[in-house]
Amino acid sequence: KTGLFTYDSGFLSTASCKSKVTFIDGDKGELLYRGYPIEQLAENCNFLEVTYLLKNGELPNAKQKTDFERTIKNHTMVHEQLAKFFSGFRRDAHPMAVMTGVVGALSAFYHDAMDFSDAEHRNVSFNRLVAKLPTIVAMAYKYNTGAPFMYPDNELDYTANFMRMMFGNPCEKYVPNPVLVRALDTIFTLHADHEQNASTSTVRLAGSSGANPFACIAAGIACLWGPAHGGANEACLQMLEEIGDVSRVPEFIARAKDKNDSFKLMGFGHRVYKNFDPRATLMRKVCNEVLTELGLQNDRLFKLAMELERIALEDPYFVEKKLYPNVDFYSGIVQKAIGIPTEMFTCIFALARTVGWMTQWEEMITDPEYKIGRPRQLYIGAAKRDVVPLAQRG
Ligand code: SDX
Repeated sequence: KTGLFTYDSGFLSTASCKSKVTFIDGDKGELLYRGYPIEQLAENCNFLEVTYLLKNGELPNAKQKTDFERTIKNHTMVHEQLAKFFSGFRRDAHPMAVMTGVVGALSAFYHDAMDFSDAEHRNVSFNRLVAKLPTIVAMAYKYNTGAPFMYPDNELDYTANFMRMMFGNPCEKYVPNPVLVRALDTIFTLHADHEQNASTSTVRLAGSSGANPFACIAAGIACLWGPAHGGANEACLQMLEEIGDVSRVPEFIARAKDKNDSFKLMGFGHRVYKNFDPRATLMRKVCNEVLTELGLQNDRLFKLAMELERIALEDPYFVEKKLYPNVDFYSGIVQKAIGIPTEMFTCIFALARTVGWMTQWEEMITDPEYKIGRPRQLYIGAAKRDVVPLAQRG
């Protein structure tokens, strides 16, 4: 049973936990946030509306949406001391290493003043993280490139503001392309939450000890970095670059099927989906829109990815094992087209998933049944034995 945690006899053990946030039907390829199909949310809402929905359980009305956007804008800046934190990293440090450190460091700025049994303190922490993650991700990118940090411009909406902090500079006005803004905003929505995946379970487990949410989100970022999880979009693009040409697709399909080869088709397969990941279908549509907007319809990697998908989906191995493209298969191509460098892909994932992590942390911490996580084990080590004095050890 692919269970995770339950509140069985006051302890977390590996089973499955209760949640009202996200529902996945892996066989149907269905994903619901608070009961709404991801396809309808991606089509009709922006990321902050979806953030409001995940956090509060209902979509905002017009006034609630405006008020929430204003609240988030009030928290987009980071403490000037935090900006100095970046200078401790080498310029070529992986941005996910920087994110793990800097987001964890937020604990040093806010933790002491917070009582997380107080709903308003939890609310402020949620808003601070949702508002500051774009600023921190953009700062990690600017630090990596040696360019100056950009302050938020609260005249712009959430995602346009992020793009300006990423791609703008102090010397000229940055006018974000609305098609690219909408595409990136949708990518945020598609990554916002996904039930009890590895990084969300990490955040829940860390939070169950009473650790502050900033430290818990840093733990989630660390877990997400793995190539089997959030690092797959970066790994998928590297795989497509390595394949290089459609003529080499059969070679890599054969490697993916070879039990003696550790190679996995990046962006394919899923612990839960045994059908299309609905996010992959939406991501392919977003990818098409962006490439068309940019006149890149013949993008080499996109064509290679579609051919790889076609061949894999016709291959008996992938059909029998129910391996389909997942959210990471197209996300790297579209992010690269938007101008986001490969090493930043998982940072983008973390930016969006912070909403789901914080929502699930809040759900766990306010559950009257929750206790500190303590998964049990099946001991398969040495039977009980006596210590032999050093002089008698052979
Ligand atoms: C994410 O949990 C989440 O929700 C995560 C996520 C989220 O939003 O938080 O959806 C984000 O992490 C998506 C997954 C991104 N990772 C990748 O794309 C990396 C490539 N995928 C594989 O590493 C793999 O598919 C996993 C790790 C995602 C799932 O692996 P499992 O649990 O082994 O999948 P499975 O049980 O369905 O596998 C069935 C068989 C196994 O072989 P057998 O043991 O039956 O011989 O298929 C094999 C697997 O080894 N297999 C693959 C494969 N994925 C599974 N073979 C080749 N290529 C692949 N990609």
